[in-house]
Amino acid sequence: MILFKKITELTAFMDQQKQKGQSIGFVPTMGALHNGHISLIINPKKHDTITVSSIFVNPTQFNEAKDFEKYPVTLEKDIDLLEKNGCDVLFLPTVIEIYPDGLSNQPYYNLGYLETVLEGKYRPGHFQGVCQVVHRLLSIVQPHYLYLGQKDYQQCMVIKKLINLTELKTAVVIGNTLRESDGLAMSSRNMRLNEQERKKAVKIAETLFFIKKEIKPGYVGDLKERAQQYLLAENFKVDYVEIATADTLTIIENWDGKQPIVALVAAYLNEIRLIDNMLLN
Ligand code: PAJ
Repeated sequence: MILFKKITELTAFMDQQKQKGQSIGFVPTMGALHNGHISLIINPKKHDTITVSSIFVNPTQFNEAKDFEKYPVTLEKDIDLLEKNGCDVLFLPTVIEIYPDGLSNQPYYNLGYLETVLEGKYRPGHFQGVCQVVHRLLSIVQPHYLYLGQKDYQQCMVIKKLINLTELKTAVVIGNTLRESDGLAMSSRNMRLNEQERKKAVKIAETLFFIKKEIKPGYVGDLKERAQQYLLAENFKVDYVEIATADTLTIIENWDGKQPIVALVAAYLNEIRLIDNMLLN
């Protein structure tokens, strides 16, 4: 694996690869890697594509300073994992490399409805930060394919919208959510859970499985309420338990039994905010 810290050196290398006709797959991350990330790294291999990954804890997407300060960093372990799993290139930029004009002087992306619901509503500015960094990274790497995880369902939709807005020529490939053996969705933030919190965290996935099992055509408001009460009883601080259309994320109260839908949860265990989602049909 070749490691680049400077944009100029990375782009020189990428240009050489593209001249050879090599297709490029890109997996952006914030590090603290787990098997969910690795499942995305392995994907480009299937398409005879060079795998480029980045590790950059993007300051502009954290709407809570504490969350940024406490974001886990496990760089040596990450490099080792990437290398062992066949990643070809790792981009490891500094903040100045990504944001030479400073953090506040950034473009605004018109994300419309997506920025008003769920993560957009509960994490103001978060998706602007995601777009800023992903736009910058895509402009640098210029990959043919961008690999994202369904774990961040709304982020996938936001990034697809970003690609449309900016007319970038990258195809998005979405990988399934990888889970621990008890069902908890793998997440870098899980590293911050203590033993007791870790045991409890699985209840988020259980809530989603419960909704999937119980959902029936008709009014779904009472099912959402029961699911939320389950988490509240376990001392989660719940931002939302919602059911939405899978293609546009429109929140629904009634389901026709046919439309593809997704359940989404965001809840805090003490200080740590966890999200998860599940397609229901
Ligand atoms: P990060 O949380 O590090 O996630 C990097 C990628 O891994 C994202 O596409 C995410 O959806 C995917 N991922 C995370 N957990 C997963 C799991 N359990 N199974 C499968 N894929 C999983 O998402 C970000 O970083 C940042 O917002 C980023 C896009 C890098 C921009 O800064």
